[in-house]
Amino acid sequence: MNQKKILTGITTTGRPHLGNYAGAIRPAIEASFEPGLQSFYFLADYHSLVKNKDPKEVQKSCMAVAATWLALGLDTNKTYFYRQSDIPEIPELMWILSTFTAKGLMNRAHAYKSVVQLNEESGGSDPDKGISMALFSYPILMAADILMFKATDVPVGQDQKQHMEMVRDVAQRFNHHYGDIFVVPKAIIAKESAILPGLDGRKMSKSYNNSIPLFLGSNELRKLIMKIKTNSLEPGEPKSTEACTIYDIYQAISQPEEALLFKEQLEQGMAWGDAKEELFVYIEDLFSGPKEEYLKLVDDQTYLESVLSAGAEKARDLSSPYLKKIKTVVGIGSLV
Ligand code: TRP
Repeated sequence: MNQKKILTGITTTGRPHLGNYAGAIRPAIEASFEPGLQSFYFLADYHSLVKNKDPKEVQKSCMAVAATWLALGLDTNKTYFYRQSDIPEIPELMWILSTFTAKGLMNRAHAYKSVVQLNEESGGSDPDKGISMALFSYPILMAADILMFKATDVPVGQDQKQHMEMVRDVAQRFNHHYGDIFVVPKAIIAKESAILPGLDGRKMSKSYNNSIPLFLGSNELRKLIMKIKTNSLEPGEPKSTEACTIYDIYQAISQPEEALLFKEQLEQGMAWGDAKEELFVYIEDLFSGPKEEYLKLVDDQTYLESVLSAGAEKARDLSSPYLKKIKTVVGIGSLV
């Protein structure tokens, strides 16, 4: 049995929001404290280049994401926390893996296919318009991220399920040819119920523009919360917590007893305005400590860089000898 190793990548686009917190960051930090388990969390900045070509933005988002994880309590002594681009073994491994990746398999990848489909729908003559090789081979980079550290468990969103199948496929093909070199990882997919709704009730997502970023100023936060869509029930009328965005968000970030109390208040007719106010106060309180820490960290590039470079060094202690072994297995690189 392999030791349980949990690994996930955080694409560094924009700023983390409450949905990321409840669905990914909080469970990941909790897992990092579990005894007997190794965890690897990294900033997928090479992945971010697929979409973002603004160097300032790329840099800023990377720092914001790193500061967020640290401010929320990630203990870098208990985990491997690094920036993907600091680990040169990852893109090296990607090349080796790409020699085992069927092009036909990549043709079927969702991220790529959905752009092709948009191109076709818009009636243009080139179905591959605007598609880079990086977008096309995105799952191979993901495979390198994962296989490099022998991850056994990879928590990802539903949208990455197919990419994970591809990672397993590539690992198995390689192993079939060279013997048991890679650990074939399994995807840990968040339950539908763990997906937080955003302001408009759809899944909270940067791309829907419906998210509540973490660590907002009070006024901004209040304004956003007041925008959450509700139905037209009047104060005093009983309100159900079924498909109720305010409740879903409250529930995802609070303790079960607190959520129950909130539910009862709604059922007893609490006004939507009051419910929003309660949610606002809850978020303000919950994040007041981390917010202070975040604001301190996010502008301290020197400190963040020192954390990331220590993380990279620790990670490379694993990736460097392992890549050497893989290279030997395929017959390249120095044999002594
Ligand atoms: N593609 C993932 C996402 O968008 C991020 C990611 C990159 C990742 N490499 C990974 C997730 C490796 C898990 C493992 O969510």
